[in-house]
Amino acid sequence: MRTPIIAGNWKMHKTVNEAVQYIETIQSNQLPQDVEAVICAPFLTLHTLQDKLAGSSIGLGAQNAHWEKEGAYTGEVSVHMLQDLGVGYVILGHSERRTYFAETCEQVNKKTIAALNAGIIPIVCVGETIQERESGRTFEVVSSQVKKALKGIASNELHKVVLAYEPVWAIGTGRASSANDAEEVIAYIRKTLMSEFGTAVAEQIRIQYGGSVKPENIATYMAEPNIDGALVGGAALDPESFSGLVKAAS
Ligand code: G3H
Repeated sequence: MRTPIIAGNWKMHKTVNEAVQYIETIQSNQLPQDVEAVICAPFLTLHTLQDKLAGSSIGLGAQNAHWEKEGAYTGEVSVHMLQDLGVGYVILGHSERRTYFAETCEQVNKKTIAALNAGIIPIVCVGETIQERESGRTFEVVSSQVKKALKGIASNELHKVVLAYEPVWAIGTGRASSANDAEEVIAYIRKTLMSEFGTAVAEQIRIQYGGSVKPENIATYMAEPNIDGALVGGAALDPESFSGLVKAAS
């Protein structure tokens, strides 16, 4: 059985004070223990939130990281620095990073390996653009992204990876993929994992859906056999809404 995982991606939102207020609200909402709830916050808030979440079952994640331990990489934050802070998760290869910051599959692979080496759970994002979907290339694009991101990862580490299938056209648009369509692609991703890494690992890896998930539609995704949770942007910005998403996944 795979434990459901609901991750809120705040993207470039929230000051430290706003972040603290948010965490206090979700902590008072008593989230269910059978769902892994994770907040992926901006770098500047992580230190404060790590203190705030000490002893809590709510996980803390970053939204990016550099694979090198340290060096002349102005503006970057390393996986090693996140590890030092006790951050447990990191989103890697989000489509916004791929689109606006030209992040490549090779870089996502290096980041994923570095995160696992540091004991941090990578949430690796994949997904097709609308042009790729309309030209019938969804399966090809997504399976290629998965294979490239996971290349060279030790077989005893692979099961720790979380994949997030996020069709680019569904992100922040209110135009969510239907649960059936998302399940079809996610089942294909699992099939790809089976042929690449074997059935045992493929059945352990959790795969989230992301793209316009809300408290009103999350149950439809959670009802699908291959969908193990959600990576949520806009609807995770409000603490009551995030709490509702986690409760609905229980
Ligand atoms: O990381 C989250 C995704 O980009 C989904 O964003 O829920 O605002 O569509 P969204």
